[in-house]
Amino acid sequence: MLAPFLALEEPGSYFVAGIACYEKWRGVGIGSWLLAEAEDRARSASFDKLSLIAFDKNAGAVRLYERLGYETKARSTVVPSEAIRHGGDLLLMVRAFEYREGRKRN
Ligand SMILES: CC(C)(COP(=O)(O)OP(=O)(O)OC[C@H]1O[C@@H](n2cnc3c(N)ncnc32)[C@H](O)[C@@H]1OP(=O)(O)O)[C@@H](O)C(=O)NCCC(=O)NCCS
Repeated sequence: MLAPFLALEEPGSYFVAGIACYEKWRGVGIGSWLLAEAEDRARSASFDKLSLIAFDKNAGAVRLYERLGYETKARSTVVPSEAIRHGGDLLLMVRAFEYREGRKRN
């Protein structure tokens, strides 16, 4: 059941394990803010890209990630299980960002 998740890895990236916000607060920018915050933390730790895994059936979330510049790098098929709400494919989505001067770790 976990193998398709483990197969999706972007070496050297800061991995965002998941984001979510309460339903009544969706669509007002919190998800975008959370990802911007993750990017700040990644840059501070000298990473130059973020990665996350999304279900392809989670169309709203995938649209948000694409709008923020994430690209699908790989996919794997979900193993059907009662523990997993979506079927279909898992997408490894990655966004590389420009390195900011002065923050690199030697
Ligand atoms: C995905 C999620 C974190 C986005 O957070 P958000 O605060 O709603 O996102 P923002 O307000 O910054 O951006 C809005 C975009 O989020 C996406 N979105 C996904 N689900 C949404 C929902 N139920 N309501 C509104 N927007 C949603 C859409 O792409 C939307 O853009 P649109 O206006 O073009 O449709 C949030 O909808 C959520 O908690 N969903 C349930 C958990 C989940 O699916 N997490 C992602 C796991 S990979």
